[in-house]
Amino acid sequence: MLSPAVPGGGWEMQTVTLIPGDGIGPEISAAVMKIFEAAKAPIRWEERNVTAIKGPGGRWMIPPDAKESMDRSKIGLKGPLKTPIAAGHPSMNLLLRKTFDLYANVRPCVSIEGYKTPYTDVNLVTIRENTEGEYSGIEHVIVDGVVQSIKLITEEASRRIAEYAFEYARNNQRTSVTAVHKANIMRMSDGLFLRKCREVAENYKDIKFTEMYLDTVCLNMVQDPTQFDVLVMPNLYGDILSDLCAGLIGGLGVTPSGNIGANGVAIFESVHGTAPDIAGMDLANPTALLLSAVMMLRHMGLHDHGNKIQVACFDTIRDKKVLTKDLGGNSKCSSLQMRFAVASRIWNEAAVTELLWEPESPPI
Ligand code: NAI
Repeated sequence: MLSPAVPGGGWEMQTVTLIPGDGIGPEISAAVMKIFEAAKAPIRWEERNVTAIKGPGGRWMIPPDAKESMDRSKIGLKGPLKTPIAAGHPSMNLLLRKTFDLYANVRPCVSIEGYKTPYTDVNLVTIRENTEGEYSGIEHVIVDGVVQSIKLITEEASRRIAEYAFEYARNNQRTSVTAVHKANIMRMSDGLFLRKCREVAENYKDIKFTEMYLDTVCLNMVQDPTQFDVLVMPNLYGDILSDLCAGLIGGLGVTPSGNIGANGVAIFESVHGTAPDIAGMDLANPTALLLSAVMMLRHMGLHDHGNKIQVACFDTIRDKKVLTKDLGGNSKCSSLQMRFAVASRIWNEAAVTELLWEPESPPI
């Protein structure tokens, strides 16, 4: 999607549906909105709450005003949503993915300079099929004490995700795509997935294609993640492997993600949960949601704004002066220092002046 520049300079405002979510969601969403405002990102937020409601025929659905907003804006930014166990309704994240057919989950994992982990120079992207596989939700009791869960793999969804992965690689100057599978064991399901990846690879001769077993990828990943570039895989493998990759660069608090659907629809989200243990305490790290919002800006064609905010974010982390507890610091989410440090590289004079009037938060 390309963002229209207004004749004579500036950018046309675009609407984004903001789902602040639960727990720490509202705190980190507020931080992102402030940073966007200061960076003069041309985004108009339309805030919507998402809780499961029962529609006609007893089917679970998201609230109509949230659906209507997303249908119109096509772009969403989402904080974490709680999924109470045995709540009687499906995961809200799953419901959102199904409602908007968000078939590709994209997670770039790039080492953050100055934030030390046992790994340096990680620069890879996991692309996970988001709609079927082991998470199709088809489970039943066969007889007492025996349950069956069905892994659904279709030709259409496999081709679609493979095409997305190769297109992503080409558009982002990446050189290789690795299909991750267990076709040696799940010959029919993963076999079909792999076949579709091979077929699609034929149309992208400029991108190197390799195939690897999931277990081998896990082993090689922790030994030397720099050998990987773009990885594409079915749902469950993607869920697990993408968290493993997030761990290489510092965890879920610094890892962004996007869920991409057809026709430009997309929802960007932090991948961590609602962090109930620190919710409402002003201790949450907003980086993952901020970097997800940067992915969103790029998806909308607002590359300058995205780059500016990303540089400010990475500079702040490299500075080490203002970090939340999970990153080894003692700053609060909303502390003046945090916002000022991020903002100092991106904010315009008026915003900085306004900031200086805000009371300083004492370190915790
Ligand atoms: P969690 O990610 O909420 O918390 C795990 C640990 O990481 C906690 O100690 C928490 O304080 C910390 N943490 C997470 N995000 C942080 C941040 N931004 N800044 C600082 N610390 C952070 O995982 P948990 O406890 O398993 O899940 C809690 C709830 O979140 C559950 O209801 C779960 O279903 C939901 N959840 C939602 C997700 C989503 O909406 N994408 C993803 C994962 C979980």
